Amino acid sequence: MSERRKLVMANWKMNHGIKDSFSFLAEWSKLSIPTELDVAICPPFTSLQSVGLGLSESNSTTALGAQNCHFETNGAFTGEVSLNFLKELECQYVIIGHSERRHIFNEPDEWLSKKVDAALQVELTPVFCVGETLEQREAGQTESTVLGQLAAIKDLSREQAAQVVIAYEPVWAIGTGKTATPDQAEEVHGLIRRWFGDTFGTAYAAELRILYGGSVKPENTSELMRQENIDGALVGGASLDAKSFFEIVQNSLK
Ligand code: PGA
Repeated sequence: MSERRKLVMANWKMNHGIKDSFSFLAEWSKLSIPTELDVAICPPFTSLQSVGLGLSESNSTTALGAQNCHFETNGAFTGEVSLNFLKELECQYVIIGHSERRHIFNEPDEWLSKKVDAALQVELTPVFCVGETLEQREAGQTESTVLGQLAAIKDLSREQAAQVVIAYEPVWAIGTGKTATPDQAEEVHGLIRRWFGDTFGTAYAAELRILYGGSVKPENTSELMRQENIDGALVGGASLDAKSFFEIVQNSLK
């Protein structure tokens, strides 16, 4: 088994405004979160400050992350959020290229590449998401799709690459209740690590954390996390409830 420290992240998507975030935190602060792994919560932008304050008031080890960002530092970009604002809120992570951003909001690879670069400039950890659709999987294009998406980060320096987290999220498994089998996930995670090794060197690849996302629940966490190349999870639906997210965190260590 690898020495990589696991990372489990909650992606609340467009759920949990301030009121619901407080209810979650009231539960979360009563739980004793294991310290053998990293845990982060990514609330919607408008709940970031409240969640951040709530976590620090309860001396929580849980970190804060954002679900998106813009690559420019400031300017005429109506409706967008600068990475500098996320830094002010003490975010440590930012999700980049989630499939919902790619498919619903048509974010092109060129933007994602700039976002990863911009996040690294301000020392925020980018969680760069990749994953194939069902059509692509059925057409035997899983590998070419994932490698094509990874190409957006191929020009990073090795030092920059060492700061990146990758999340493999097969689009057909997101919010559908259909999880990739541990073998299916492991196959793609292995592919990602090999690409990383070929691109940045094997020492960097050995350190890379690759999260799995797509219908992760307390019941399927342990089996997924036991795979050699799965180093954590990006959890949507099952992270909205404090108890269920806590179970996922606990099961990630089993
Ligand atoms: P899900 O979402 O756990 O609800 O499938 C995962 C994600 O989209 O990050």
